[in-house]
Order: sequence, then structure tokens, then C-alpha cells
Amino acid sequence: MTEMAEVVARLRAAGCVYAEQEAALLHDVADGVALDDLVARRVAGEPLEHLLGRVEFRGLRLVLTPGVFVPRQRTALVVEEGLRALRSDALAIDLCCGAGTIGAGIGSARPDVELWATELDPTAAASARQNLGGPVRVGDLFEPLPSRLWGRVDLVAANLPYVPTAAIATMPAEARDHEPRLGLDGGDDGLRLHRRAVPEAAEWLAPGGRLVVECGRPQASTLADLMRASGLDASIVTDDALDGTVVSGRRNDTVTA
Ligand SMILES: C[S@@+](CC[C@H](N)C(=O)[O-])C[C@H]1O[C@@H](n2cnc3c(N)ncnc32)[C@H](O)[C@@H]1O
Repeated sequence: MTEMAEVVARLRAAGCVYAEQEAALLHDVADGVALDDLVARRVAGEPLEHLLGRVEFRGLRLVLTPGVFVPRQRTALVVEEGLRALRSDALAIDLCCGAGTIGAGIGSARPDVELWATELDPTAAASARQNLGGPVRVGDLFEPLPSRLWGRVDLVAANLPYVPTAAIATMPAEARDHEPRLGLDGGDDGLRLHRRAVPEAAEWLAPGGRLVVECGRPQASTLADLMRASGLDASIVTDDALDGTVVSGRRNDTVTA
């Protein structure tokens, strides 16, 4: 058996559905000795993206280090809804940015936008700094942002942790064992962090500004209610092809001259 055929066989035996493609990708990033190590780590359940050190998102190649939440393709819906809300030279925040997934999607489509990102985990923030042109600040929610942005933001886009705590045990081992709990655990109903983030976001937004947040489909109406309670006009957007759900809320007070 050739080395590659052996690798494919090991990956397939471990349950990798796209064993041939994964073998080719691992081969591309490995030098001879490291390939065996990479395959062993993949067989043990590490996400392919962590082993490759990168992830593809909306045609972009993002840097991703082990220990950082693996961007999901469904998050493209946050980017699309966010982009629809942006005027020229707008100010946008990628809140809880992880690897900078949302900000990279927005920044690549709209280089004119002034983009800031925040993230609690310094490891994720280090990945984000390699993927984003703008500043990435480490800290809790909006706390690390300069106060001069308060009330001036045109878009807050976010994919906050939203897996209900009890559901983490039912996730694939890849996520459960290799993604940071901080990136997954959303408390009892998955919306624990949203209850703090939504009212804060409403204050950072400019009049007419928009908050766009990913969630699970069953959580969408509760999240929309949270936004309405903070004075935002909220609507739910779903995309079956992406298997994505976002709630989009617009700060509805009018601009006074
Ligand atoms: C579901 S992941 C999404 C990451 C990224 N937005 C994406 O879509 O790939 C949530 C992220 O929120 C970060 N996070 C959790 N609690 C936070 C907090 N209080 N303040 C800032 N970031 C936080 C986690 O470290 C994680 O990177």
C-alpha cells in the first residue's frame, strides 16, 4: 500500500467521510515525518481546520490555531445581513470575533468600513489579528472598545456562544473535546451572553444602526424579543441552504440634527 492509500484507510476507519480529500490536505501541509503525527491527531478527533491551521470562509482563507472556535459556513448569513445594513465609510464591530470570521467577511467586501473587533480569549484574538485589518481588542464584550465609538456604531455583528449547556454533551467529539467551551456554552437556553450583549449593543449603535446576531432556529423568537426590549426593531432571517438563522435589530430612533 502507498503511504497515501494507508493514510486514506486510517482516516476512513476513523469515520472521516471525506477521507481522500482530508488525506490530500494533510499531505499538503505536512513534511514527511509530520504527516504521521497529523493523521494520528485527526484520527483522535482533532478538527481538520486546526491541523491545517486555516479555514475557508466565503472564499477567504483564514488563519486558525488549535483551541480557537472553528468558523461555521452558516455564519456567512451574519455577514450577508450585516453588509446589507452598511452605508459607505460605516463603523462596524465584530463582537466576540473568535478568529475574526465575521469581520474578515465584512472587511473583504467593504474595505471602506472602519472595523473593530473584541474577543475575551487571547488565543482567538491572536488568530483574528492575522485575519483582520482593523484593531482586535481583548476583553469582555464592548468593554475594551474606546468610549469615543459609543452611540456611533452602524453595525454590531456577532456570533456569540449559543449552545445550551446540556446540549454540548450531544455535540460531535470534534467540537465537544477540541473547541473551547467559552466559544460554545450559552448557558441554560443558549442565550446567557445575549442577555448582557443586546442591551449594551443597543447603546453602542448609532440611530438607525443595526445589530445582527446568529442563533439557533428555536432561539430566534426569544432573541428577537430581547432586542425589542432594548428598543430595536427586530426581524428573523433564515437561510435553508446555509442552515443559518440570524436576528437583525435596527435602532429605531430618528436622527436629530
Ligand atoms: C461561537 S464563537 C464565534 C466566534 C466567531 N464570531 C465565529 O463566528 O467564528 C464565540 C466567541 O465568543 C468568545 N467569547 C465568549 N464570551 C465572551 C465575552 N464575554 N466577551 C468577548 N468574547 C467572548 C469566545 O471566546 C468565542 O471566540
